Amino acid sequence: MAMKLLKVADYAEMSRQAADIIIKQVKEKPNAVLGLATGSTVLGVYRELAADHRQHGTSYRLVRTVNLDEYVGLDPDHPNSYRYYMNQHLFAQLDIPLHETHVPDGLAADLDEECRRYERLIDELGGIDLQLLGIGRNGHIGFNEPGTPFSTATHVVELTELTREANARFFPSLDDVPRYAITMGIATILRSRRIVLLASGEEKADAMARLLEGVVTPDLPASALHLHPDVTIIADCEALSLI
Ligand code: GLP
Repeated sequence: MAMKLLKVADYAEMSRQAADIIIKQVKEKPNAVLGLATGSTVLGVYRELAADHRQHGTSYRLVRTVNLDEYVGLDPDHPNSYRYYMNQHLFAQLDIPLHETHVPDGLAADLDEECRRYERLIDELGGIDLQLLGIGRNGHIGFNEPGTPFSTATHVVELTELTREANARFFPSLDDVPRYAITMGIATILRSRRIVLLASGEEKADAMARLLEGVVTPDLPASALHLHPDVTIIADCEALSLI
């Protein structure tokens, strides 16, 4: 298995290690294209990047970013949109020009055209140098739910109940969680030159155990990463408690 697994004690250690990889990437290639994720798992990484920027001045002036996904129907100013999350937790803390940060437009009138535009955009940027990923409890990456063919490019998805329930904690009620999202496809993710997947906590243990078994199947979207030559997994003890 080509995947590199870094076992760490806890969330803090996972966050530091992931931040170190990103900082190194940006120092090596100041105009790197970073593929970014949202959710609870990556929050600590963004805190580390912000702290490093403040304390050591690592610059993101030339960096470009593309996010994995966005809810359909949420305004960029909606506190639960992924655009809002990224602005708050990362972009406002760095010196990156906001116009170089990209998130799919969940309000686009023609969502299919928005998906095609997003694919073209990634190509025009020269491809993703480093893609950061979390993992869903059912093994989803981005919003690619189980059953998604690995050949899928950026597309509109209907979210599963499990995913809506898992993300309901950020919304006033389950009913407020959008039913659709735009997500980079698995093929889009696999085109990244390097991938770093993070997992923390017991609720990810089942998905991680299945991922590390090594069976490649659309039933576990993250298992597509076995087809990629440069994947680093950073996972804490709880996330690895079932292996
Ligand atoms: C969400 C996001 C994914 C994220 C995953 C895990 O549905 N679309 O990009 O990786 O769920 O989220 P969390 O880190 O909050 O557990």
